[in-house]
This record gives sequence, structure tokens and C-alpha cells, in this order.
Amino acid sequence: KEAKLWGGRFEEGVTDIVEKFTESISFDKQLYKHDIMGSKAHASMLAQQGLISVSERDSILKGLDEIERSIQAGEFVWRTDREDVHMNIEATLTDMVGEPAKKLHTARSRNDQVLTDFRLWCRDAIDRIVASIINLQVSLVKLALNNEGLIIPGYTHLQRAQPVLLQHLLLAYVEQLDRDAGRLLDCKARLNFNPLGACALAGTGLPIDRFMTSNALGFTAPMRNSIDAVSDRDFVLEFLSANSIIAVHLSRIGEEWVLWASEEFGFITPSDSVSTGSSIMPQKKNPDPMELVRGKSARVIGDLVTLLTLCKGLPLAYNRDLQEDKEPTFDSVKTIIGMLEVSAEFAQNITFNDERIRKALPAGYLDATTLADYLVKKGIPFRTSHDIVGRAVALCVSKNCQLEDLSLEDMRKLSPVFDDEVYEFLGVENAIKKFSSYGSTGLACVADQLDYWVGKLEIK
Ligand code: ARG
Repeated sequence: KEAKLWGGRFEEGVTDIVEKFTESISFDKQLYKHDIMGSKAHASMLAQQGLISVSERDSILKGLDEIERSIQAGEFVWRTDREDVHMNIEATLTDMVGEPAKKLHTARSRNDQVLTDFRLWCRDAIDRIVASIINLQVSLVKLALNNEGLIIPGYTHLQRAQPVLLQHLLLAYVEQLDRDAGRLLDCKARLNFNPLGACALAGTGLPIDRFMTSNALGFTAPMRNSIDAVSDRDFVLEFLSANSIIAVHLSRIGEEWVLWASEEFGFITPSDSVSTGSSIMPQKKNPDPMELVRGKSARVIGDLVTLLTLCKGLPLAYNRDLQEDKEPTFDSVKTIIGMLEVSAEFAQNITFNDERIRKALPAGYLDATTLADYLVKKGIPFRTSHDIVGRAVALCVSKNCQLEDLSLEDMRKLSPVFDDEVYEFLGVENAIKKFSSYGSTGLACVADQLDYWVGKLEIK
């Protein structure tokens, strides 16, 4: 067995059980690209500050490039006895280039190194998630464009409420996703500060230049407080919180589409390419991808809760517990991207059953509120008109008919202000035409919303 990098004060190595329990290489090797990026910036800074020579810097940089290449080619040997990604790379660099590599860790600790890697990794992950969000938004807007004019029942309490344009509802998802992306970008701006140079916790007496590494790595500035820099994980908490909100949004879409695909709703038919069957019931065609979107939201929420729990009892500064921050983060990112991708795929592979939706529209008195507004326009106080329409609905229930089926005579018994014009407010198609407030489901209002998103998402 080779001696540990910290071997000087130790008389023997760790037992196999301890080595297996404490390693993180099995998962933190994902950080390799950012670890190398950070080491290159650090080496360049050390050379600029005269802490290493230019030729030492060059052999470090060359060695790191070679390591990156060999990792990408799948040739790099990851060793559990070298514990984590930082020591694997540093030790291999030393094997490769010898003495200069031993200077790389000057004025650096794994405590600031791991955070540099992790912040850079999260920054890239946020960009990947935002790209997936935009892709889903585009799919939803295209779905809206393909279903112009389709009216569906809008629900509250999962009871029929008022008619809405399908486009209106689809754009509601798009709005939510827009805020989701905004939260991630806010988080990115807050996490983009440089911990490198905080060293173990207290900084260093060596003449390093943290502003130089900040610039090289695209950070806004060095973190002001070295103790904060190595202790803090609130940037990941914020990141996983933002992911959890996305997960909850997607889970709600999942639930809605699963309902819509049911025989009971029958609003959509998912294509075979996004459906799965049953091993026993030959007739089954299930919307599994969206069920799993709903299901996997549990993991993303769980990842956040894991991290919150991990941090809650820790004194400043670094504690080894913090090594446990990575797996939930990797899992959250992988899961949320999968959820976004499959939701977009599903959106691109469903058709709305216009005929069936139209046939079912008369049920539920979706035009009742529009009728109440008609009475308001006639000068009746809203509370009174609410009551009059309520009685009209009760009459329809007893007659087993729709509001538009009531005779003017029937209606006049409820209020003398009813006139022929009332029929322009009744029936779902008519009711939809009456909406006109900003943000409403009115045809022109929804067209405006759609224009906005087509422009913003640059949909051709
Ligand atoms: N693998 C460690 C982690 O992820 C790196 C930091 C280790 N620092 C230490 N002092 N043991 O947290």
C-alpha cells in the first residue's frame, strides 16, 4: 500500500473497512473536470506570485491536461486508497511529473478545493437545467399552438368551474417554469463566488492572489470570509430548494396528465411511444413516464431534506459530514433533468381528443359565472345575481337541462331583468367570448400571452 498524502504523522494506514466507508471517489470523480480547472487556475496563480517557477507551472498544467484526457478516454485508474477526486488527481500528477506536482497544493486545502469544484459544478448544472426548462417550455408552447381555440373545463376542487382555453392552461405551466428558471439563475448569481484560497479555514500567510483565481474561474469575486467559504453549503441548499420547487411543478403536471389520460377524463391520448403496457392485462396502455415524473419528485424533495438535515448540527468550519453533500446534489440534478426531458417528450407525443372534450363540455354549468356577470351588467348587485343564478342552476338540475335550455319565461320568474340577450352569454362557446380582463382566458388575452411566449422563446 502507498503512504497517504498526509502520511507523515501516521504509523499505520487505515483498515479496509474504514477506507471503504470514508472514500468518496466512487461518486466525487464526477467533479474531475472542475477539479482540474481549479488546479490549473491555482497553479497559474502560484507561478504569477512567484510561489512556483514558470517551468514547474508548465509541467503541472501539461500533466493536468494529460490527466483530463486520460479520464475522458476511460484510461485513468481511480484508486479507492487515494480516497477522493482531489487526491486521486494530485497523486497521479505526482506519479506523472514528479517534484513540481508536490507544489500544487501550496496554499490550498481540500476544504477550499472541494468547494471550488462543487460551486463550479453546480454553476454548470444550473445552466443544463435551465436549458432543459426552456426545452420543456418550447414543447408546451408548441402544443398550445397546435390546439388553437380548444376549450376545456377549468377546475377548482377538481370540480368543473369555468371554461378555459387549453392554451391558457398550458401557458400557466410555462409561467411557472419561467419562475423556476429565474430561481436557478438567482441561485447561480449568489453561488458564483470564489472559495479558493480560504485554505483549511483560516486563509494563508503565503502571498496568494485570490482575485486572479476568481477571474480565471469566472467567479464574481473571492469570498470575503475564509471560515464562511469552507463551511457554507447554503448555495447547494438553495439550489436543491429551487430543484424541489421545479419537481413539485412537474409532479403537478404529471398528475394532471395522468388524470387527463384516464378513461374518466379522456382529454388526451398519449402516443404508444410514451406509454407502457401491463404484464398481465393485455388491454392496458399506461402513462408511466408522467407517473414517474410525479414519483421522482419525491427523490428531489428527499435530496433537499437530506442536505438540510446534514447541515443542521454542524459547528464551523469544515466537518467531514459535508462529504455527504455530493450524492444528493448529483441525484437531484440528474433526476430533475430526466423529469424535464421526459415531460417535454410527453408533451410532444400527446393528442387532445377534441371531439370527446367538446361533447363533455355542457356538463357542470361552466357558464354560470358568466351568467352572473350578465346580471351585474344589467345593474343587479353581484351577491343578488349569484343567488339568482344559483336558483337557475337548481332549476336546471331538477329539469336535467343546461342553463341555455331554460326558456326566457323560466328565467324571468327568477328575475325580471332577463331579456333575449342572455342567450349570448350562455353555452361554453359564448361564455369564453365574454372574458376580457388582462391575463384572462378570453381569446384575445390568451393570444397576447401566446405571442409573448412565442417571441420570448423565439419559436418559429
Ligand atoms: N472528500 C472531501 C469532501 O468531499 C474533501 C474534503 C476533505 N477534507 C478533509 N479535511 N478531510 O468533503
